[in-house]
Amino acid sequence: MRPTILVATLVLASSTFGLEICDRIQSGISSASAVYYSTDVQGNYTQDLSHWALSSTQSSLCTVEPGTADDVSTIIRLLGSTRTPFAVKGGGHTMNPGFSSTTGVHISMSRFSRVKYDAVTGTAEIGSGLIWDEVYAALDPFGVNVVGGRASGIGYSFKTNQFGLTADTVTAFELVKPNGNVVYVTASADPDLFFALKGGLNNFGIVTKFTLKTFPQGKVWGGYVVYGADQIPAVSAAVGRFSSNVTDPKASLVPSYMFLEPFGTVVSNIMFYDGPTPPAGIFEEFLAIPTLITDINTRSFLSLVQAPQANDSSGARGAFHTVSVREFTPTLIDAILNETNFWASKLNPEGATFISYAVEPFLPSIYTHNTIPTAFPDSPAAFMPLNLYFAWTPFTADATFHDALRQSAAHITQVAIAEGQALKKLPLYSNYALFDTPLTRLYGINLPRLQAIKKKTDPRDVMGLAGGFKF
Ligand SMILES: Cc1cc2nc3c(=O)[nH]c(=O)nc-3n(C[C@H](O)[C@H](O)[C@H](O)COP(=O)(O)OP(=O)(O)OC[C@H]3O[C@@H](n4cnc5c(N)ncnc54)[C@H](O)[C@@H]3O)c2cc1C
Ligand SMILES: *[C@@H]1O[C@H](CO)[C@@H](O)[C@H](O)[C@H]1NC(C)=O
Ligand SMILES: *[C@@H]1O[C@H](CO)[C@@H](O)[C@H](O)[C@H]1NC(C)=O
Ligand SMILES: *[C@@H]1O[C@H](CO)[C@@H](O)[C@H](O)[C@H]1NC(C)=O
Ligand SMILES: *[C@@H]1O[C@H](CO)[C@@H](O)[C@H](O)[C@H]1NC(C)=O
Repeated sequence: MRPTILVATLVLASSTFGLEICDRIQSGISSASAVYYSTDVQGNYTQDLSHWALSSTQSSLCTVEPGTADDVSTIIRLLGSTRTPFAVKGGGHTMNPGFSSTTGVHISMSRFSRVKYDAVTGTAEIGSGLIWDEVYAALDPFGVNVVGGRASGIGYSFKTNQFGLTADTVTAFELVKPNGNVVYVTASADPDLFFALKGGLNNFGIVTKFTLKTFPQGKVWGGYVVYGADQIPAVSAAVGRFSSNVTDPKASLVPSYMFLEPFGTVVSNIMFYDGPTPPAGIFEEFLAIPTLITDINTRSFLSLVQAPQANDSSGARGAFHTVSVREFTPTLIDAILNETNFWASKLNPEGATFISYAVEPFLPSIYTHNTIPTAFPDSPAAFMPLNLYFAWTPFTADATFHDALRQSAAHITQVAIAEGQALKKLPLYSNYALFDTPLTRLYGINLPRLQAIKKKTDPRDVMGLAGGFKF
């Protein structure tokens, strides 16, 4: 029900705003920026609106591609003073409807596409319109890398076991505040905003650049394999052993239990080692199990991230949800497999194209890299995220799939609690959590501080005109 209401509200709101806001933006910005209308034949309007998931896309009055922070400032002032609903899209990978789409004015950050490496400080300035593949490609000639997503977004990385979450490695943000002021946010310049931007999403303004720490990057080992249904018990046992016994921070594993045409239930397993050859005792067990597909070798980091299986489900409707657990025990892994089979059989007749549960067995030490407190996570204990990802075709089935994600996450939570895992206060990862997850489940005791910083930074709630989890 909820998404339908949301869409109806936005349609109503936008009908009170004409195209004149777009014309005003156009006449206010410099030649470094541009406005596109739905009549655009070159495809820029459509490109600006597009997302990984079709269900995260809406048609807007116009799209704006700002090319400078000053133009972002002009745009946000105009939107704020006219109370026009708007969206800010970076990489376009949100799985929640309305988080980076609008029927008002859609801002695409695509022109913030520069990567500037500074060997002296060991940092790189990254434009906020880039996707990670582009960042990795730009840094590759320098033999360095950043702690970016395994496919997109700010958060968990193949290098997280070594260096923490992406947010832990940010040294500065260039931010256009809701009042239009362009500021450079660092730990010393503005400790509150620096804390808030590290996980606080689009509540504090529009980020135009991130400065990230870089780390040396040579050849890596790994890729992905797909195991058929008959091998799953052996794979699950190996996943349990990896999860409880492997402590080498250069090793990383993402097994996904999934239903995938034409194979049925399979495990797609991404293996990663940050070096040309993994030491003995880490991946042998996985390599000994027969596979349906194998793409494992010594390669560049970029080639591993661009392995084609990552694109399986783009272009469909889709949503994520998540459970945070303390450990992936054999009992829990069995329950996850059961969920995969249960929901595939239940949802295939409803138009499911993809049912996936990605197990992310990180080291418990990954949350110790944030030497300065960050908005996310606030946690009483180490935890690991499980990513639930359903994709489907019929637009009439959104509510069915959202509800299935809620039920499945609740069931897995119950199983973990029944075997003695204390999950209650573990935060849920905001980039995986379904759109109606309560904010306290994402931010815990950090929430009041974030709400206070929000009030101070954005007293007129300009960022409230854009969708997302709102403080
Ligand atoms: C295929 C796939 C793989 C993924 N893999 C990983 C992974 O390996 N690790 C991980 O941690 N996460 C992963 N994610 C989750 C990802 O982190 C989130 O989807 C994240 O929100 C994507 O960011 P984006 O900029 O692409 O999204 P967008 O849809 O562009 O934006 C997401 C939110 O951020 C806001 N926003 C975007 N740009 C700005 C800006 N410049 N200033 C202010 N607000 C802004 C938007 O308004 C929106 O609310 C994955 C998602 C997908 C679909
Ligand atoms: C529109 O996008 C195309 C590439 O898709 C680009 O070549 C063209 O310059 C863009 N038009 C404008 C006016 O920016
Ligand atoms: C981890 O290693 C220990 C010691 O080798 C072994 O007893 C245990 O079964 C392993 N854990 C799992 C989950 O297999
Ligand atoms: C996957 O998506 C990326 C980015 O959109 C694209 O460059 C790449 O060609 C795609 N790969 C496949 C196999 O479709
Ligand atoms: C399998 O999952 C379904 C749905 O969550 C649940 O009702 C059932 O009890 C589970 N079966 C087992 C054996 O765990």
